[in-house]
Amino acid sequence: MKILVTGGTGYIGSHTVVELQNQGFEVIIVDNLSNSQAWIVDAITDISGKKPVFEQFDLADQKLTSDFFKRHNDLQGVIHFAAYKAVGESVEKPLMYYRNNLVSLMNILEGMAENQIENLVFSSSCTVYGQPDELPVSEKAPIKLAESPYGNTKQISEEILKDTIKSAKIKAIALRYFNPIGAHQTAKIGELPLGVPNNLVPFITQTAIGLRKQLSVFGEDYNTPDGTAIRDYIHVVDLAEAHVVAVKRMIEKQMKNAFEVFNLGTGNGYSVLDVIKSFEKVSGEKLNYKIVDRRAGDVEQVWANPEWSHKELGWKAKRNLDEMTASAWKWEQYYRNKK
Ligand code: NAD
Ligand code: WQD
Repeated sequence: MKILVTGGTGYIGSHTVVELQNQGFEVIIVDNLSNSQAWIVDAITDISGKKPVFEQFDLADQKLTSDFFKRHNDLQGVIHFAAYKAVGESVEKPLMYYRNNLVSLMNILEGMAENQIENLVFSSSCTVYGQPDELPVSEKAPIKLAESPYGNTKQISEEILKDTIKSAKIKAIALRYFNPIGAHQTAKIGELPLGVPNNLVPFITQTAIGLRKQLSVFGEDYNTPDGTAIRDYIHVVDLAEAHVVAVKRMIEKQMKNAFEVFNLGTGNGYSVLDVIKSFEKVSGEKLNYKIVDRRAGDVEQVWANPEWSHKELGWKAKRNLDEMTASAWKWEQYYRNKK
């Protein structure tokens, strides 16, 4: 069973490739390395004992993508991670985000349709919910006006999928991730932010290892128990496992509709201070942080209702917050020593 993983050298993609290989899938990675590095292919091989095929090209290039699908018309499915993902950067460079994230998706869908490849798993995001009116947030919650061009690319992508499945023989599952953190237990792969991290956990681990002076905690005046914002953090390996379940659901023709949506979260909300406390506990390090103003565009609190994923997808997150922060710390140390 051959699966294309776009963005397979990236953070979530690399963990998913390993889980697919562990389950006996043959994996082809396409990545242009715009936000990842070629040695990840060796790290994946090291973990799984199987070398994935790797092709480096830009999926926003229609001709290259069309040629790829002609050469690989025996794919059982596609898991599409490749996209730009920095919210702040998308506000600065909206067209770069719309072009990369939307054109890539359209090229892939065309390539699939032309070669009778039916199954697509798409990386969506909890960002489509904005600040939900009800918590926990289920898949039935209304989609809020996007707060950034990045968020809008996820909303538009879901619309593109909904329209495409009506006219082409394609089925799609959109997985809405909450906040993926952590790393593989071997510490051979993990999150690799370029430059100064935007996300909380890489900023914590980089501060603890001495790369950043201090973590800024954005706001302590939210209407939450400790005043800091709440998210549903989910271990990246739990997320990776969900992709294998989703792809099998498609191949085994278990889908109830040609377009399905699932939340991928734990169902638990943790505050910024909860994450810091967990990190300090598992690492034994004292973190240098200070409370500053809120960050523009942040929602106060959001966590998933994962019931539908438990019931219908048959997947449940297994790893707790301490396992997430411990694995992120192990990875940060391994990676800095490796260099
Ligand atoms: P990542 O940047 O680590 O991985 C994405 C990979 O795609 C990178 O390796 C990059 O080089 C590649 N890529 C980007 N554009 C490409 C193109 N045009 N052609 C070929 N390769 C291209 O990001 P990630 O955290 O692994 O995220 C994977 C997906 O999940 C993205 O679609 C992202 O929007 C989505 N997502 C991520 C999060 C998160 O917090 N990490 C949350 C929700 C959704
Ligand atoms: C988590 C919490 C911050 C950094 C982003 C995207 C979202 C999705 C997941 C892709 C917030 C606080 C952070 C720091 C802090 N990605 N924080 N100091 O903003 O929930 O979601 O990643 O789809 O679209 O927006 O994640 O990790 O940036 O922040 O206090 O230096 O940590 O304010 O409350 P976020 P995050």
